[in-house]
Amino acid sequence: MSEGMNGIKRTHRCAELSAVNAGETVTLCGWVQRRRDLGGLMFLTLRDRSGVVQCVFNSETDPELADKASALRSEYTVAVIGDVALRGEKDRNPDMATGDIEVIAKELRVFSKADTTPFEIVENSSVNDVLRLKYRYLDLRRPDMQRIIAMRHRITQVTRRFFDGEGFYEIETPMLTKSTPEGARDYLVPSRVFPGKFFALPQSPQQYKQLLMLAGFDRYFQITRCMRDEDLRADRQPEFTQIDLEMSFVDRDDVLETVEKYMHTLFKEVLDVEIPLPIPRMSWDEAMSRYGSDKPDLRFGYEICDLSDAVRGCGFKVFDGALEQGGSVRGINIENGAKLSRKEIDALGEYVKTYRAKGLAWAKLSPEGHTSSFAKFVSEDCLKDVYSKLGAKDGDLVLIIADADNRTVLDALGALRCECARKMGTIEDGFRFLWVVDFPLFEYSAEEDRYVAMHHPFTAPNDEDVDLIETDPGKAHAKAYDMVLNGYELGGGSIRIHSSELQERMFRALGLSDETIQTRFGHLVEAFKYGAPPHGGLAFGLDRIVMLMAGRDNLRDVIAFPKVQNSSELMMASPDTVDQKQLSELHIACIEENE
Ligand code: AMO
Ligand code: AMP
Repeated sequence: MSEGMNGIKRTHRCAELSAVNAGETVTLCGWVQRRRDLGGLMFLTLRDRSGVVQCVFNSETDPELADKASALRSEYTVAVIGDVALRGEKDRNPDMATGDIEVIAKELRVFSKADTTPFEIVENSSVNDVLRLKYRYLDLRRPDMQRIIAMRHRITQVTRRFFDGEGFYEIETPMLTKSTPEGARDYLVPSRVFPGKFFALPQSPQQYKQLLMLAGFDRYFQITRCMRDEDLRADRQPEFTQIDLEMSFVDRDDVLETVEKYMHTLFKEVLDVEIPLPIPRMSWDEAMSRYGSDKPDLRFGYEICDLSDAVRGCGFKVFDGALEQGGSVRGINIENGAKLSRKEIDALGEYVKTYRAKGLAWAKLSPEGHTSSFAKFVSEDCLKDVYSKLGAKDGDLVLIIADADNRTVLDALGALRCECARKMGTIEDGFRFLWVVDFPLFEYSAEEDRYVAMHHPFTAPNDEDVDLIETDPGKAHAKAYDMVLNGYELGGGSIRIHSSELQERMFRALGLSDETIQTRFGHLVEAFKYGAPPHGGLAFGLDRIVMLMAGRDNLRDVIAFPKVQNSSELMMASPDTVDQKQLSELHIACIEENE
């Protein structure tokens, strides 16, 4: 029963047909979505990547053909040759793109049969993720997945056209390379030729793209895979794709303007959405203090307010204690939040604990009377002051966090404002872009007891902060920037250091010995000695762009073959063991798990 094409030529995709094709004889190829028998007539819904169309088999006019069709089951692959006919007025289906027509079948070819699939191939299936990913090729047949993958294709094509138009060269950089400090763990590849040595898979093409600027290519871009062995989350995959770019002879604003224009073009061409330019800019300090996040979601308010001065010396030990230890007391006002139940407020209290907050003080300003977890500990005047600072009025819910560590207060309130917006349903539709600029150059790592680069060690400090590298690193700011969309970091970059002397100072400030600088970054430091252009760039997460444009909240939905939580891939079942022979060639011996 299985046949090949044997001379058949497809003339159209299913959903390309419309009333204008009425009367034409067409050849369609695809999958059987479903078959319905209505006495003398049999209806077959045929599906391909464009969508579906109805084919009709008539057992009175062509009993042999109808008989052949009656053996068809869902997901059989077939070709149908037939005539496009307008449907009668009452048979039109306005819910179907091709609902005005049907194809009266004259010939049927069965390419292959199909077993019953583990789940039905339908839009927005509720099947569990493990099954979906094990049978990803079936999952990808679903119309919503087909649309996302098609959109991803559009996005990469618009991207290539845009950057080509702006004079960027697309240049590939190596996959087998050397560890670079992007901050995550490396995926390593053992060398067969050099026992005990390893390639690292790139976490980003950072150093190569800078070296391409030194090579004189001026403007580079690449759509490239990056690998980072870090904990996977909804917006993080171990293997993801960057739209990576770098430009020579530019300042920060040149990069931001080019990249904004790209985003504008992308949203216009793919979604027909007009992004207002210029994209607003906010300093990192302001983003942190107003939103408790370096990637604030601006689709709702609930801005953070510093209440430290209002509560100083109020007598409530939680607030006073935090302030005495150099911390802060901050809060947010949730308009109309008084309607939340005690249970829901307690759940918010538990939620902030996952962000290391020790507790949540709250006040419910119900019109029938105020209830609060802390009002009894503070004076009436202090309460008034707090409410007025927050702009709280009857019907609102006030939420306050105190901690000796400012960053904990901000992180917890930053997460809490998002959680409240989800709970209250106050997240506006649309795309709210933001540039976060003037990042700190360093971040103190308590774990490593040293400063680490906030972006990466190639990022240039602000001109006026260069000497702070040695004297007061925590105060130095950088020529770094992130593009943020609806609370996600879409992309990040910086103007780079292009002097070997400054680059060496930077490495030393990060605690690298001269020997480490030489062995790990000697090539870059040396390269800067042979004529280096001022340069800067940025990398977008392509997967995140697709996810947000497709209105999804998990990268898994926009990657054809994604990894799951533990970084494995369910369909091929990777990672997997390999033959002893392969290991020996690579000079590798495995240690038993329990040793
Ligand atoms: P950065 O590390 O900020 O910068 O990465 C750039 C962008 O890549 C995306 N991204 C990810 N997407 C999915 N899964 C991940 N695990 C993941 N990690 C990062 C994000 C992020 O904004 N070389 C620098 C760029 C530069 O300075 O030009 C870099 O890699 O959207
Ligand atoms: P207690 O006296 O410990 O019962 O705390 C009284 C109120 O203060 C409770 O509602 C606690 O949730 C709240 N609270 C405790 N610790 C904090 C904190 N670090 N920040 C804000 N509120 C807190």
